[in-house]
Amino acid sequence: LSASKPQIKLFIACSLDGYIARENNTLDWLHALPNPKQLDYGYHSFLAEIDTLIMGRTTYEEILGFGVDWPYGDCNIYVLSRNQGSQAQTPRTRFLNELNKESLEELRRKSQKNIWIVGGGQIISQCLALGEVDELILSIIPIILGDGIRLFPGQPKETWLELVSSKAFETGVVNLHYQRQ
Ligand SMILES: NC(=O)c1ccc[n+]([C@@H]2O[C@H](COP(=O)([O-])OP(=O)(O)OC[C@H]3O[C@@H](n4cnc5c(N)ncnc54)[C@H](OP(=O)(O)O)[C@@H]3O)[C@@H](O)[C@H]2O)c1
Repeated sequence: LSASKPQIKLFIACSLDGYIARENNTLDWLHALPNPKQLDYGYHSFLAEIDTLIMGRTTYEEILGFGVDWPYGDCNIYVLSRNQGSQAQTPRTRFLNELNKESLEELRRKSQKNIWIVGGGQIISQCLALGEVDELILSIIPIILGDGIRLFPGQPKETWLELVSSKAFETGVVNLHYQRQ
């Protein structure tokens, strides 16, 4: 990897037991944690170095359902779906029907900055299996959900990681920042 090559990074909040949403896709538990100082857990400085987002169709629809203005105006968005007829409803958004090394390498060539794998679990597990995730930043929320949508569903590929840093916030959130070995 040359220093200037765009990196593919995961940045995601998950429960202590490894869930990223409830079974019905809700994220109420993320917002339930008191955060009086409105800490952003590093999100805005992360986003400043991103110009490309990759997400699964389910995650895309969840974000559309938030009912807020589209938050990623300047970025190129790639939404994975096997359904060829899908129509993008947001700026600079394209549907992709293949997730493989070639499609990810093409995104690396097209990007000037880094690439954020937004989620969800299906997309994350596949990108890991392809060996294409350079960094993982997990914001661990201090809750055991017991059930839900897994961070690494299926049978994720066994992957050793190198810990870059860890940071505990006063709200009880812990960020774990890993890179590929
Ligand atoms: N906690 C967080 O910070 C966070 C972040 C992101 C997402 N989430 C949550 O994660 C949940 C969604 O995760 P998920 O794992 O169920 O779904 P997902 O990964 O978001 O999307 C799955 C969909 O992506 C498409 N897809 C998957 N693999 C593909 C491939 N190889 N080629 C083409 N298309 C492919 C399929 O769409 P089609 O069915 O259209 O073919 C599939 O149904 C949501 O509840 C969301 O809120 C949470």
